Amino acid sequence: MNISKAFFITGALWLLFGMGLGMHMGASENFTLAPVHAHVNLLGFTLMTLFGLSYRLVPKLAEGLFGRLHFWGHQIGTLVTLAGLYLLLSGTMPAIVPVMAAAEGVVFLATLAWLVNLIRNL
Ligand code: HEM
Repeated sequence: MNISKAFFITGALWLLFGMGLGMHMGASENFTLAPVHAHVNLLGFTLMTLFGLSYRLVPKLAEGLFGRLHFWGHQIGTLVTLAGLYLLLSGTMPAIVPVMAAAEGVVFLATLAWLVNLIRNL
């Protein structure tokens, strides 16, 4: 798997989704989901694009297990965290908080894997 390309493409998909949500909020004048919009754009687009750049700049980062752990941990953790934030803020499922906490932990651990990978390969 090309981790750099995968981060760039998933980042662009999150950006389109984040823009769509922002446009919907503006048009409906309902800003309840503004934190979802912000985190879709930041955890989704901004971080994934920066990660994509880092793997393109230092190809060695993509060679071992840590790169794959980072990619999949960030993808799965971000998806579950943001779906949870949506369900929480829209009032659909307030009991989702423990699931979100676990997913945030996955994003945190994925970022730790990135740090270890940086220290080992830079
Ligand atoms: C088509 C593109 C976009 C549209 C239409 C849009 C629209 C909006 C709207 C309507 C709000 C709520 C403003 C309010 O609460 O008064 C907002 C907030 C915000 N947006 Fe966007 N946005 C866009 C792109 C982006 C991007 C690319 C980023 C970051 C990379 C971003 C980050 C944020 C942040 C951090 C907030 C504040 C959220 C909060 O107060 O909880 N937006 N945006």
